[in-house]
Amino acid sequence: MQDQNKFVEPNHQTLTYGKYLKVHELLSLQQEISVPKEHDETLFIIIHQVYELWFKQLLHELELCETMLKRSQLIPVFRSLKRIETIQKVLNQQIDVLETMTPDEFNRFRNNLNPASGFQSFQFREFEFRLGLKNPAYFKFFAVDPKATDRLQAAFAAPTLYDILLRALADAGFPVPPEVLERDVSQAHVSHPGITQVFRTIYEDHATHYQWYILLEGLVDLDELLILWRYRHVQMVRRMIGDLAGTGGSLGAKYLQSTLTKTIFPELWEVRNHLGGNKPYA
Ligand code: HEM
Repeated sequence: MQDQNKFVEPNHQTLTYGKYLKVHELLSLQQEISVPKEHDETLFIIIHQVYELWFKQLLHELELCETMLKRSQLIPVFRSLKRIETIQKVLNQQIDVLETMTPDEFNRFRNNLNPASGFQSFQFREFEFRLGLKNPAYFKFFAVDPKATDRLQAAFAAPTLYDILLRALADAGFPVPPEVLERDVSQAHVSHPGITQVFRTIYEDHATHYQWYILLEGLVDLDELLILWRYRHVQMVRRMIGDLAGTGGSLGAKYLQSTLTKTIFPELWEVRNHLGGNKPYA
């Protein structure tokens, strides 16, 4: 009978789990700055680093979506959007872990973080820019980080996922208005009734346009889950610091609440007003 417990002993040449994943390097990256040491600062660092790793994966998936959508290959886009959605759910859930820290525990090291802030997460901002939420006011937070600035400028100048989607819809024969296809992509998207009309056709006859319908619903999930993250983040901020200003100099929770109305794909929300024979402006 075969021995089920026959383990392979690694030697110095073979690839190991630790070498492949650079575990020692990874575990050396959590460097608390508080003196004396504050127990919860480790959690604070780890949770932010975990977020940044997931942001990296989100950007990686977004790139796949863009590439495949440019080729009108929808199946890999569905799979990637599903993965984005699943990661976003993990991101939202992770707030629970941070909320096990009390305001008092946070306040013991909060002042040491000044003026570092989530405003300086270039990956979060790149995710926003590449999805179409382009706002040049955020560049100032990266003035001291030329690498981040370069990435953000590239994202700012490039067509967004929405631009690529609208081009793919036009290629598939939907009457996307030409002025939308030829717009200056370095500007924020401006809602257009012609796009709502295209979405209406897809939603009202989703049996015929099933693949597009699934794709649009995937984008609605993405948009909604980002709003839910913003909501969970601001509530967590209120729990920790109430209405105090942020370390990045904003009005704190008040500023964050103002971001709850950001919408990536406006016509995908607008179209709901027109389905089932509804005439919202009649
Ligand atoms: C105790 C925990 C946290 C507090 C008190 C907090 C507080 C804040 C505040 C007050 C802001 C507004 C900007 C400022 O003035 O600094 C902000 C922005 C931000 N935070 Fe947090 N935060 C916390 C945890 C996190 C975590 C875990 C992440 C994950 C990456 C994160 C990501 C961000 C991002 C991306 C922004 C920019 C949001 C935007 O401009 O829409 N924060 N945070």
